[in-house]
Amino acid sequence: MSERLRIALTKGRLQDQSVELFEAMGLDCTPVRHPGRRLVHAIPNYPLDAVLAKAPDVITYVEHGVCDLGIAGKDTILEQGKSFYEVLDLGFGKCRFALAVKQGTDFYGTYKTRRIATKYPNVARKFFEEKGMDVSIIKIEGSVELAPILDLADAIVDIVETGVTLRENGLIPIEDVAQVSARLIVNTASMKLHKAVIDDFISRCEQELERRR
Ligand code: PRP
Repeated sequence: MSERLRIALTKGRLQDQSVELFEAMGLDCTPVRHPGRRLVHAIPNYPLDAVLAKAPDVITYVEHGVCDLGIAGKDTILEQGKSFYEVLDLGFGKCRFALAVKQGTDFYGTYKTRRIATKYPNVARKFFEEKGMDVSIIKIEGSVELAPILDLADAIVDIVETGVTLRENGLIPIEDVAQVSARLIVNTASMKLHKAVIDDFISRCEQELERRR
């Protein structure tokens, strides 16, 4: 296996668990654990370079083929489309998309167009299209929970992990939109061009996931 692969890892919530998975697979992740200001980290004992990126950029890098592999949340995958292979559910980063409203709101009990605040407009649009409901989507970049409090929106579609953020802001989830977890994704051309080394990487992942079950 002379060729090296490049993998994009999502910074933040998924980063530590991605590194723990790789270490359990026998990869020496010291460079990723101590990144400094470097952006590309060579794994010394496996033909793999890791880059750390924001979730949407992980997808962009894999779609463009500058990274062969990526670890991204299903939330970002659902939002950004997918012209890549989604090969494994890695079993961590579990949360859900939920529709949530201010406590006491009768969300479905009105004919007026509902205003939905979300960081995930495509996910929200599809959810309401499937219901045949006409809604107005308002894109928010962070702390979506603020929108109903400020009366900018009637409801939000957002990630719920522990439920604490909703609860502390007087909101309640009324419906699940989708389940979310971290996924291993692969560029479609890389899958053919680097089949042997990608197969080896995937099977190491699978063995570790199997061991965890
Ligand atoms: C996410 C999400 C919620 C919160 C839910 O935001 O948008 O605000 O986590 O988590 P909980 O159910 O455990 O309270 P995140 O912390 O990722 O920050 P962001 O708003 O900057 O995206």
